[in-house]
Amino acid sequence: MNDAEYERLMPAIQRSTGVDLNFYKPRQMVRRLDGYISRVAGGSTQTFADLIEKDPAAADALKDFLTINVTDFFRDPHSWTDLETKVLPELLARSSALKIWSAGCSQGSEPYTIAMILETLAPNRPHKILATDLDAKVVDRAAAGGPYAKSDLKNLSDAQLRKWFDEEDGGFRINNDIRKRVTFRRHNLLMDRFDSGFDLIVCRNVVIYFSEEAKHDLNERFAAALRPGGYFFIGGTETLLDASTMGFERRSTSLYQRGPDLVVAKAA
Ligand SMILES: C[S@@+](CC[C@H](N)C(=O)[O-])C[C@H]1O[C@@H](n2cnc3c(N)ncnc32)[C@H](O)[C@@H]1O
Repeated sequence: MNDAEYERLMPAIQRSTGVDLNFYKPRQMVRRLDGYISRVAGGSTQTFADLIEKDPAAADALKDFLTINVTDFFRDPHSWTDLETKVLPELLARSSALKIWSAGCSQGSEPYTIAMILETLAPNRPHKILATDLDAKVVDRAAAGGPYAKSDLKNLSDAQLRKWFDEEDGGFRINNDIRKRVTFRRHNLLMDRFDSGFDLIVCRNVVIYFSEEAKHDLNERFAAALRPGGYFFIGGTETLLDASTMGFERRSTSLYQRGPDLVVAKAA
């Protein structure tokens, strides 16, 4: 599709899915959409625009395609080690009731992973774990605790499976002990306001397709939403190029800490 076709398609996509492509990297998005449109509409952007505007199922399928819900418990296990052995123990020594946000949580594996770690390190504390995602379908599934397929649980030991899940027909459901520790909500990181005072914000593998400008703006808002000394945990293939100008100090590949003096403080 050429630039003009992309420009014409963007409002139809926003109307039918709520996703504003102005916040995404155009070249990558065009490449992905080209493949998708040739599969579902024979390559015609006009046919595709008509389809998603008229058929809610087609709009839903497009939203699934755009949001990419791939996730896992303990996704990239090695990147959780520092969180588990250094960051959370340090935060727990500071406060017995942590405020944590998993932003772009998909079907809940990430916030439930955090809840499992916290329950293991220091059981039964009144932490607040908020988990949000743009996609209402995955949020509903997460809030119901699954069910998750065995393949989603490959990074968990048998002991963890027995401890945190109930086996049922067709899969494994998070048990109530862990489920009640996470609050799920639908939320669009690019449009909606968010709370502040977090000890830890986890936003992994979510902003990969966002434009540089949208990513920078969001990271500044994350910095402002953390308490001084709070941590920001990102995906294994991501980096914060301008961390220090946003008031972050790099602690390891995927972990950044908000310093005491935030240089740029943007209202979230
Ligand atoms: C690849 S998944 C990552 C899930 C999890 N953070 C992980 O690393 O396993 C990306 C998630 O980001 C969500 N997402 C994409 N754009 C978003 C936005 N603007 N606001 C909130 N969530 C968004 C998608 O719906 C999807 O569930």
